[in-house]
Amino acid sequence: MILELAGVAAGYGAKTVISEVSLALAPGQILALLGHNGAGKTTTLKTAMGLIPARAGEVRFDGTAITRLPVAERVARGLRLLPEGRGIFPDLSVAENIDVVAASLTGKGAMFDPASVYRLLPVLAERRATRAGSMSGGQQQMLAFALAILGTPRCLMLDEPSIGLAPNLVERLFAQVRDVCRAHGVAAVLVEQNVAAAMALADQVVIMNNGKVVFDGTPEAARAANVWHFF
Ligand SMILES: Nc1ncnc2c1ncn2[C@@H]1O[C@H](COP(=O)(O)OP(=O)(O)O)[C@@H](O)[C@H]1O
Ligand SMILES: [Mg+2]
Repeated sequence: MILELAGVAAGYGAKTVISEVSLALAPGQILALLGHNGAGKTTTLKTAMGLIPARAGEVRFDGTAITRLPVAERVARGLRLLPEGRGIFPDLSVAENIDVVAASLTGKGAMFDPASVYRLLPVLAERRATRAGSMSGGQQQMLAFALAILGTPRCLMLDEPSIGLAPNLVERLFAQVRDVCRAHGVAAVLVEQNVAAAMALADQVVIMNNGKVVFDGTPEAARAANVWHFF
């Protein structure tokens, strides 16, 4: 398993909002993490990334416990988060965004350096000099995706990457995610409101409700089971 959460609890202040969260993801696999607003999906990703501490349980990466490892260490090992609401620098150009992140992550032998990112996402190559914040939502989301894969990612966590995107762009973004995972063996956790599209892409579906995992299985099993009342 590349990423494993075992009995994880986390929260804010006095409030614990997720508990007993367990999931496991193999290299190259795509896991759709679903559930209504407030179910605890973002909190789960933040805990895996180390942005907030786990109050119970263990986070494992490639078989090693990383529960108390600093965020930068997790990034260096290949765990990446595309945060809810886009993690880009709006005042920098596209090229500056890419170079700032690439500087710390793309050494010799990296899976994705700036040149390969521009090849994969030509829309960014055309807009190298454009101020990132002035681009369309779809283009900004492509840039956020580019920043998430720079270097050598081993597990991408994408928090609602399709929000605000036109349907054709959602399709294109999901196709890029699939390509990165299938061609490079990168695993992905995909948090989505777009339930049907996410299920179509995923190998595994985990549904959360009220801070707990209420379903874990294949997309086929999710469709067959009566899980729709969780949305
Ligand atoms: N920074 C925060 N401070 C306090 N409560 C929070 C914070 N972020 C989220 N919450 C609460 O934690 C619960 C889970 O939220 P979240 O993980 O964002 O759910 P989801 O991503 O599934 O919509 C919600 O009840 C939400 O109000
Ligand atoms: Mg969220």
